[in-house]
Amino acid sequence: MEAAEKEEISVKDEAVDKNIFRDCNRIAFYRRQKQWLSKKSTYQVLLDSVTTVEDSTRFQIINEASKVPLLAEIYGIEGNIFRLKINEESPLKPRYEVPDVLTSKPSTVRLIPCSGDTGSLILADEKGDLRCHITANPFKVDLVSEEEVVMSINSLGQLYFEHLQILHKQRTAKENEEEASVDTSQENQEDLGLWEEKFGKFVDIKANGPSSVGLDFSLHEFEHLYGIPQHAESHRLKNTRDGDAYRLYNLDVYGYQIYDKMGIYGSVPYLLAHKLGRTIGIFWLNASETLVEINTEPAVEYTLTQMGPVAAKQKVRSRTHVHWMSESGIIDVFLLTGPTPSDVFRQYSHLTGTQAMPPLFSLGYHQCRWNYEDEQDVKAVDAGFDEHDIPYDAMWLDIEHTEGKRYFTWDQKRFPNPKKMQELLRSKKRKLVVISDPHIKIDPDYSVYVKAKDQGFFVRNQEGEDFEGVCWPGLSSYLDFTNPKGSTDILFLWNDMNEPSVFRGPEQTMQKNAIHHGNWEHRELHNIYGFYHQMATAEGLIQRSKGKERPFVLTRSFFAGSQKYGAVWTGDNTAEWSYLKISIPMLLTLSITGISFCGADIGGFIGNPETELLVRWYQAGAYQPFFRGHATMNTKRREPWLFGEEYTRLIREAIRERYGLLPYWYSLFYHAHVASQPVMRPLWVEFPNELKTFDMEDEYMLGSALLVHPVTEPKATIVDVFLPGSNEVWYDCKTFACWEGGCTVKIPVALDTIPVFQRGGSVVPIKTTVGKSTGWMTESSYGLRVALSTKGSSVGELYLDDGHSFQYLHQQQFLHRKFSFCSSVLINSSADQRGHYPSKCVVEQILVLGLRKEPSSVITHSSDGKEQPVAFMYCAKTSTLNLKKLSLNIATDWEALIWLAMRQNITTYQSRYDAHGSTDPCGSLLPAAPSVLTASTLQHSLTHTSSHQASST
Ligand code: NOJ
Repeated sequence: MEAAEKEEISVKDEAVDKNIFRDCNRIAFYRRQKQWLSKKSTYQVLLDSVTTVEDSTRFQIINEASKVPLLAEIYGIEGNIFRLKINEESPLKPRYEVPDVLTSKPSTVRLIPCSGDTGSLILADEKGDLRCHITANPFKVDLVSEEEVVMSINSLGQLYFEHLQILHKQRTAKENEEEASVDTSQENQEDLGLWEEKFGKFVDIKANGPSSVGLDFSLHEFEHLYGIPQHAESHRLKNTRDGDAYRLYNLDVYGYQIYDKMGIYGSVPYLLAHKLGRTIGIFWLNASETLVEINTEPAVEYTLTQMGPVAAKQKVRSRTHVHWMSESGIIDVFLLTGPTPSDVFRQYSHLTGTQAMPPLFSLGYHQCRWNYEDEQDVKAVDAGFDEHDIPYDAMWLDIEHTEGKRYFTWDQKRFPNPKKMQELLRSKKRKLVVISDPHIKIDPDYSVYVKAKDQGFFVRNQEGEDFEGVCWPGLSSYLDFTNPKGSTDILFLWNDMNEPSVFRGPEQTMQKNAIHHGNWEHRELHNIYGFYHQMATAEGLIQRSKGKERPFVLTRSFFAGSQKYGAVWTGDNTAEWSYLKISIPMLLTLSITGISFCGADIGGFIGNPETELLVRWYQAGAYQPFFRGHATMNTKRREPWLFGEEYTRLIREAIRERYGLLPYWYSLFYHAHVASQPVMRPLWVEFPNELKTFDMEDEYMLGSALLVHPVTEPKATIVDVFLPGSNEVWYDCKTFACWEGGCTVKIPVALDTIPVFQRGGSVVPIKTTVGKSTGWMTESSYGLRVALSTKGSSVGELYLDDGHSFQYLHQQQFLHRKFSFCSSVLINSSADQRGHYPSKCVVEQILVLGLRKEPSSVITHSSDGKEQPVAFMYCAKTSTLNLKKLSLNIATDWEALIWLAMRQNITTYQSRYDAHGSTDPCGSLLPAAPSVLTASTLQHSLTHTSSHQASST
């Protein structure tokens, strides 16, 4: 039996067969909504029903045809967010409201009712800046900010709400009469899939009948929309045609087709819209299958000829309509009013949480393959990295390490001594990550199965028995992670197949009428299954360490809020250039929807990458948040050293570049964790007022300092890099060549070139030496790359802690340093006085880019009063100053003073001194307390200039 199943379950290297997945026209609730909307039946607010209950304003809305009352609730939420909920006033039974995604009950602010015209209601926030204008008939909501209508809800009349009904057969004749508005003839029932929906050989019997919801949003003057992952599509959302909506339905799509709107592994029902001067967001909190249509009406100018002799012109503003449709649940939507991209990021994470702070090792390089065969194989691959001087942090084991795909077990023959193997990895300061899928082999001798069965931890079928479906181990049951009692408990973990993937199931997933804890149908929560899998796994890992250690869990399926539990990758991509290219927009979309820790399989999971592609993929991956090489089982081995010395060198360099930048990566993750800002950012986020950036998806920012333009074309010799910002300067991180912003430059590229540019005005912390893994680099020295702005100043940060525990949170054991360069002085000061973390690490090197003049001397001044002359090298050709062999403790305050010329220094010093606490761009970066630099130090250093210079040459 098992062997036969294995054959059927074998992996094919074929492009996805789209016929096994549904398009919109084969989705009954889509057809129903379209049919009904064509009838243009409207909803109306019953204004005399308006009440204020605690923190919400409530009123009834009623459809002229169905007459079933709906209850609408509007909330103001702290941080300029509105929430609109619409549910049936008295449903036959409770409708599903998504739990566990919101971090806590959002704190509300009072909305004050202001008198509107008869026929409308106005609710304003306390300052009166934001208002909701509710028009009664037909029902419409306008969101107004400072007299500008930003968004209108239901202006197209697409509000749709199927109220729960008694099954046709069970109704009385009177009830059927009352329901005449909904056409329920037998023929139509089948076609519209009210109680039963067919797809191929599958029949979905719906216990609750039709229950879908929908609503439209018109975004005024917005033409650029982003978000709603996961699709293998461009970063900017495209207009949809009939039947081609973006689908949010988590599915296992092996070798997914690119530039396609079909649903793949995960869903975040949240989109952002951006225009010059404002960014907004719509978060549609619904975990059932969801479709999103987008339709932009561009601005048009009409000439009005009937206006007399002079023709008048009238401009109709552009707008984009967004139509959300979900199969079930309620309407629960959050409107994030921005106005800046970072405000919207903050508003969204206020609701769903921020990116979990990852353990440091997980930002290193990960080596995976389906499968590393046995302990010997693991040992050899591990040794290979050392032999070739390539750092890596984690070895990964796929499903074959288990006893017949029984997760949490070891295949005794291949892995007879897993403990010893782990000890070996530990001795190298490396980690092991093993896979754990949500399907559990049905086997009465398998303790995990028996325990879960006995305790009722599996999803059930309609008959109340454990649901059974086929996956890697053969017949399996599926853990019900929505049951609060279920949890897993192994070290670092990889959650796969958690859409959930069910071979031979409809669209390769679970029947929608399977039953979860609380008697909820799977249809209600399909998109959140993977979220719960990762949540339970992360919580299990935390419990294992008794709450001390940060977990690391990679998941394939995800939902809004998954960022709280770890990392996400883009699933089964293909070893082709086009997949390398699309990994950028896919990761950008994940990043702006809260999921900063994301990556794509390096090299492409399916197929064998040509060597050039593999190198380019490593180079791109080194500059993407989650960095893992992975390949499917029937591919050729592709460890970095298998392609000849030259290619080994290129891959080594890319990985080492990643390790060198780890202090910057870690600091960016801290920033994502505490301040909600994405690690990997589309250009429009950093340059929101530059129209040209709005469509860019072949380059991106890491934080606000680095611009990366990975090479994604074969045999490239030149890439066109757009460097934004007319007041900006950019420095090539390799050659230090300097470019003015606001133009596209042609950058020559060889196979070892990764086009990365540092923005003038930033300080990037790096490590000056790279070890075998992050664990070997704890003590190694720092370097600071100071890139001067056009004004000659720079700022940057470094965040540092033990890299693995929660002490940073509970005991404030961290260091957060700020570097600011102004008037030729670099200052290291504390960015957060609450944090303490002992570190002996020193800053060993400071590189100043864009210094036009050769200094006469450089001295450092530490907080204990010590002054040191510093040896330096100045390169006039590249305008770089290199201070080497420094020994400045990273954790303490100090300054490095660069003396350019005596006269200039005096003025420079004087203005810096005067600028403390002032609005001067440099002054604002300085600590409010007086600097350690005083007039006497200045005098002292001036008198020592010549000898310092002598020692520097
Ligand atoms: C599918 C995953 O996407 C892939 O990464 C993994 O190797 C296989 N499942 C086998 O576990």
